[in-house]
Amino acid sequence: MSQDPGGTSSSQFSMRRRLLAMGLAALAGIGVSFLIWSFTGIGGQKSPEDTARYSGIASVGGPFQLVTHDGKTVTDQDFAGRFMLIYFGYTWCPDVCPLALQLMDDTLARLGPDAAAIQPIFITIDPERDTPEVIKHYLASFRPGLIGLTGAPEDIAAVAAAYKMYYRKTEPLDDANPDSYGVDHMNIFYLMGPNGAYVAHFMSPSSPKDMATEIAPHLP
Ligand code: NI
Repeated sequence: MSQDPGGTSSSQFSMRRRLLAMGLAALAGIGVSFLIWSFTGIGGQKSPEDTARYSGIASVGGPFQLVTHDGKTVTDQDFAGRFMLIYFGYTWCPDVCPLALQLMDDTLARLGPDAAAIQPIFITIDPERDTPEVIKHYLASFRPGLIGLTGAPEDIAAVAAAYKMYYRKTEPLDDANPDSYGVDHMNIFYLMGPNGAYVAHFMSPSSPKDMATEIAPHLP
């Protein structure tokens, strides 16, 4: 990759283009991952009646212990009694994650007062850079009440595995800056029930209207 020597704005622009290209490549890769995932796991179905036919279903989700964007240690039990709408991503994500969290916001807004039964949760798959402080700053742009979770890399790996969440660090964009990596990840929402069990999942891009229409019947 050629860089314009001394041209800061030009190289920033170049960085943006590379981030965008990476995002698109990640989307393509994720599409393939989902195809594989949907044939081996739980993908492709919507209703609990249908999902019961898929053996992978019971294994999605499970216990976790992570740290909130306010620095508080929580477990899945702290959310017992409420639905969880979970999205895995990272704050450096150039386009996919911001769009997904906006979709989450818009979906909950559409549900109106019924959304009170749902705890929206953002779990980072980039715990090295996404400290509680970084996530708190990031989430300020989104709906109040959205909880961000991070943790030790092994704890993040464990919760991602529990949710069959594929992610992978990419090579740094700038060789001189090891922190300039991206993270490929699946673009998927999970709705988990008040007992912690899987209820439904949604691949982005769904419209807020479609997502709200599918979630609403599950709510009390
Ligand atoms: Ni992302």
